[in-house]
Amino acid sequence: MTGQTGTPGIAARHVCKSFGSHLVLDRVNLTAEEGSILALLGPNGAGKTTMVRILSTLIPADSGSMQIAGHDVVSDPGGVRALIGVTGQFSAVDNLLTGAENLWLMADLRHLGRQAGQRRVAELLEQFDLTDVADKLLSVYSGGMRRRLDLAMTLVGEPRVIFLDEPTNGLDPRSRLTMWEIIRQLASAGATILLTTQYLDEADQLADRIAVLDQGRIVAEGTPAELKSRIPGGHIRLHFAGPDPLRSAAALLPAAAPDWEQLVLQVPADDTVDSLRQLLDELHEARITVERLSIHTPDLDDVFLAVTGSHVTGSHVTGSHVTGSHVTHGHVASRADEHPALQGAAPR
Ligand SMILES: Nc1ncnc2c1ncn2[C@@H]1O[C@H](COP(=O)(O)OP(=O)(O)O)[C@@H](O)[C@H]1O
Ligand SMILES: [Mg+2]
Repeated sequence: MTGQTGTPGIAARHVCKSFGSHLVLDRVNLTAEEGSILALLGPNGAGKTTMVRILSTLIPADSGSMQIAGHDVVSDPGGVRALIGVTGQFSAVDNLLTGAENLWLMADLRHLGRQAGQRRVAELLEQFDLTDVADKLLSVYSGGMRRRLDLAMTLVGEPRVIFLDEPTNGLDPRSRLTMWEIIRQLASAGATILLTTQYLDEADQLADRIAVLDQGRIVAEGTPAELKSRIPGGHIRLHFAGPDPLRSAAALLPAAAPDWEQLVLQVPADDTVDSLRQLLDELHEARITVERLSIHTPDLDDVFLAVTGSHVTGSHVTGSHVTGSHVTHGHVASRADEHPALQGAAPR
């Protein structure tokens, strides 16, 4: 998406940061066009929060150049702060106040004035579906409501650039979808958004571009589609009851790869209904009985496994990050066997 001004919402080059002897960000480059959503995707400890803290002027980088909507983070931090909203920044929301009162407080801090403040607070309560609980103390808010209030508070000043550090972490699926919808609305209203996430499906769903951060380095960058295209295509896995039908199917489908131990035939295919129907028709005509099948569409999990190589271990990719039930250790191992570039990617 091209911005109105042509100036990127976020531009960072060669950002380095160490804590003591620990190099946490290693020459990180990031660009987000105005009005676009950039996802910074990476496992725990990759350096995502550190990058957000640097770009939002909370901590200094050791080196590198960073501009927010044309304002330099180092030489004009005040100008940057006036433009941005950071969630988590005010997560010390006051439990002894109501949701509306918390928003008032923020409007006051932003010097909105009484009328404009009232209008903005009412708008935000409405937009974030908090009108019904506006006069309730925060102590009765659910996790999703708190997260929405937190985001609403950062939006009081109508920031042009918004940093969302793992905005859906810990939310239930429904609250997560609500948050996604809000994030989309913010971007379509023209805000530039940097979103950090450990959830691959979240980056895929929301982002115009994705930068994959692993141990302080950007290991891949592109549109979700570009990242997915770096991974070999999808396939259908056919599971058989015994070696005989597997042998017949392997003879029928020479492009497919049999796994005699698992009694599985992996057939290269896209995820269209047509290709599935064609495959099933062929098997049916040849009177080959398939016990069950699973469809594997290449997704960001695969990208992550491919680009982060040996760093992908059980501790990095845990159940909650692997979105598809199809990604199992056995599957990843077979991927690594097929594609030398992925050697070492198998979690063990
Ligand atoms: N203030 C700090 N002092 C020392 N080490 C830190 C500090 N902040 C973060 N780190 C370290 O930097 C690395 C990246 O942390 P962080 O940016 O929080 O990662 P992420 O947000 O991707 O989980 C981690 O190894 C973390 O322990
Ligand atoms: Mg973090």
